[in-house]
Amino acid sequence: MTISTFEFDVLVIGGGGAGLRAALQLGASGRKVAVLTKVFPTRSHTVAAQGGINAALGNHPEDGDDDWRWHMWDTIMGSDSMADQDAVEYMCKNAPATVYELEHMGLPFSRFDDGRIYQRAFGGQSRHYGKDLVHRTCASADRTGHAMLHTLYQQNVKANTNFFNEWFVLDLVKAGDNAIAGVMALNMENGEIAFFKARATILATGGAGRIYQSTTNAHINTGDGLGMVLRAGFPLQDMEMWQFHPTGVYGTGILVTEGCRGEGGYLLNKDGERFMERYAPHLKDLSCRDIVSRSSMMEILDGKGCGPNGDHVMLKISHLGEDIINQRLPSVRKIAMTFAGVDPVKDPIPVLPTCHYMMGGVPTNFNGQALSIDQNGNDVVIEGLYAAGECACVSVHGANRLGANSLLDIVVFGRAAGIHVEEALDAGLTQHQASQDDIDAAMSRYQRWEHSTDGEKVHVLRDEMQAVMQQSFGVFRSADKMAEGMKQLTQLRERLQHAVLEDKSKAFNTARIEALELDNLMAVAMATAVQANARTESRGAHSRYDYPDRDDKNWLKHVAVFDDGQLHDRAVNMKPREVEPVPVQAREH
Ligand code: FUM
Repeated sequence: MTISTFEFDVLVIGGGGAGLRAALQLGASGRKVAVLTKVFPTRSHTVAAQGGINAALGNHPEDGDDDWRWHMWDTIMGSDSMADQDAVEYMCKNAPATVYELEHMGLPFSRFDDGRIYQRAFGGQSRHYGKDLVHRTCASADRTGHAMLHTLYQQNVKANTNFFNEWFVLDLVKAGDNAIAGVMALNMENGEIAFFKARATILATGGAGRIYQSTTNAHINTGDGLGMVLRAGFPLQDMEMWQFHPTGVYGTGILVTEGCRGEGGYLLNKDGERFMERYAPHLKDLSCRDIVSRSSMMEILDGKGCGPNGDHVMLKISHLGEDIINQRLPSVRKIAMTFAGVDPVKDPIPVLPTCHYMMGGVPTNFNGQALSIDQNGNDVVIEGLYAAGECACVSVHGANRLGANSLLDIVVFGRAAGIHVEEALDAGLTQHQASQDDIDAAMSRYQRWEHSTDGEKVHVLRDEMQAVMQQSFGVFRSADKMAEGMKQLTQLRERLQHAVLEDKSKAFNTARIEALELDNLMAVAMATAVQANARTESRGAHSRYDYPDRDDKNWLKHVAVFDDGQLHDRAVNMKPREVEPVPVQAREH
């Protein structure tokens, strides 16, 4: 087999918001940077983000002022105390400058009448440390991710970033035990294989919501970076923490933005009752997502769900009026009409909690450097490897992310990773050299599929895996269900080793890509199952019937997981660098 070689200073794997912001940092300063992406960059999943990006700008006329320290407090409370406070401080403090930078790049934000950036309310956001509601989410109608992604792509074109579109990365190429020399990648157009060498590799491959049956995530969200990291012998962290968004369209799971509730919409049960008033009298429908999702599920389990099967709830926004809906929520109207068959100007939208976001990922520090764990249990930086965005666990979201902190996370930490790589290059970061064994290792799973002749089909295994995840690792969890789920996943993983790729053609062979993606999904599903079984408490998105309480004494910690199931504790960073720590306390919202 012929393998081409390309050499760059830096590789960015993934063309979403985090990848494009990192690449821009490097491209604009003249570094030789390449973005490898399996879809054209503006088709990355960032395009689907609707509601907005948080920054304490204080633009809303009702608010008066806002403060990044309140944003920090909300983020840590929302995380159920599991977020790293140094990273949250960095993100919230940098948020206003980040939003203004995007504005100056040309991101078309919606505006108040006085011309300032429009801000709406979102869940779990407050002024004065939980006292008053705040409007902190900067929005471009309900297409903020779309606007952001196009803005960042255009800036990268201007910066002469090299794009390798529709290239699928097979695996990291290691150089010895703890360094990365680049990646092996497949050109989807013609089947060419290449070794991309680089002094630094930044993973920005997004989430893996496709481990579940029902998700707001695009079909491309298959945890590719996470699979690579596990196969390279490095850990992931906090993979039991999966966020369920309260308002996925019933049936398809397509996102209906929290911005609907931010604008004044609310959830109803079959009796037409605004049930969130009972569960969270203070913030009601604008409580954190884990709380709202659990409340919707409780209504359904109590027999108060809507529809002939009582299996969903309703989101009402008609009282906002047609003008406001058309102006601020135009995509929601289209989505509801197309996928739910209702016009929300007249009728409520049927919705259900749906897998939306992965709080776990590749452990990193707030410079984006990927971390492993040495034999003594200490953190060790993986040389030449970075991660940013949803595939990374910095961890600014802990056990539950606040809505609209994701677009913020990707830009702040994409930029931070870019800056750190620039500094490392200036300081003389060298190209790590891979051996032939390292290259062969990175090609091994491609070869396995290539030489498969007989076995089960990929889609059968994928469907079964998604059903297991949905049944056993959903909004509510318990030991017996999870143990059963774990057993089924173990068998599925074994069966996957003997599955077949029948079509070996080279040009745009989507069957090959789906097979390679399933390796990644399965690795992520297993990591989730191992960690969910281990955490014997309820915290944030991890809610157990058998351990209903938070257990700070034993579980106020991150846990890292390796591909073989080994677990290692990592302390939560409780030391912001400039301000007083947010004390560990019971959640207020
Ligand atoms: O509801 C939304 O618009 C989603 C935003 C987010 O996940 O940050």
